[in-house]
Amino acid sequence: MWRYAPLLPVLNEENIVSLNEGWTPIHSLDKLSSQLGIRDILLKDESINPTGSFKARGLSAAISKAKELGIEHCVIPTAGNAGGALSAYAAKANIKATVIMPKHTSETLKEECRMYGAELLLMDGLIDVCGKKARQISAETGAFDISTMKEPYRIEGKKTLGFEIAEQLNWQLPDVIIYPTGGGTGLIAMWKAFQEMQELTWITGKLPRMIIVQSQNCNPMIQMFETGIFPENFTAEASIASGLAVPFPFAKDQIQQVVRESGGTAISVGEKEMASGMETIARMEGLLLSPEGSATYIGLKKLIEKDYIKEDETVLLFNTGSWYKYR
Ligand SMILES: Cc1ncc(COP(=O)(O)O)c(C=O)c1O
Repeated sequence: MWRYAPLLPVLNEENIVSLNEGWTPIHSLDKLSSQLGIRDILLKDESINPTGSFKARGLSAAISKAKELGIEHCVIPTAGNAGGALSAYAAKANIKATVIMPKHTSETLKEECRMYGAELLLMDGLIDVCGKKARQISAETGAFDISTMKEPYRIEGKKTLGFEIAEQLNWQLPDVIIYPTGGGTGLIAMWKAFQEMQELTWITGKLPRMIIVQSQNCNPMIQMFETGIFPENFTAEASIASGLAVPFPFAKDQIQQVVRESGGTAISVGEKEMASGMETIARMEGLLLSPEGSATYIGLKKLIEKDYIKEDETVLLFNTGSWYKYR
């Protein structure tokens, strides 16, 4: 992703902490396209990034900048993947990492943090509880809080998703992008990248309709889209798509702004649907999706049923993480 370094915030390239993240493939899901009667269904496969998820992009940028700024200790609340990515990049940069994760997270997601030498704290509850603990640790120790959207650099790394999609598709963006949304970093970052590319005249024409997908177990952003206000007394349950279980996204207003500005929409998917979606795509396309990736496929099917997506459109799905990490 560092091919886009001039558009990223690191000033001295010696500070770049890279494990070769980015430039992930875009697959054409031909069998799925003909089954669903849509011209082009594409899938950007972020599972092959270092540490097995798209979180590598944001954390590569944030840890590079932390190194540039002389930060020695970072703390992160995480549903799992961001914690693994922080741990790996912090190890490479000789920065101490403290990772706070829900206790119910998969063993692989926990164990990788320990392998990279991070300090791992486990909490009862979802990521919002971990966020409170991170704030406390940051206040007590001076550790830099690298929570989603609370520092400015993870989003800069995730912008490279937008640059890459444009470059890989010959500067023709898809009509629709379906994004599995937790804290919303990738969504907001792609929108920022599209606007920067318009300013640079790298792209012209209409931007994609940005669609957010969440699990029925935790869908505050879908409810907010439907009613215009954040749900009162919101409660949530865990999800097999752990990255989507974010009950109180810090960037809720920005997420809504991107969806509305782009003319997009919001859709919930069920837990069982995500589980069976993983099997369908594995058997049909030979690709193992994370539950979050499967959510984008189920969202697509629902939107076709609602006649929201038309047969002559190009749709981009995201597999944001590796199936292997959810064991
Ligand atoms: C695999 C996966 N997909 C999607 C998300 C949600 O990402 P975002 O915070 O950009 O909405 C996460 C976040 O943890 C994740 O791990």
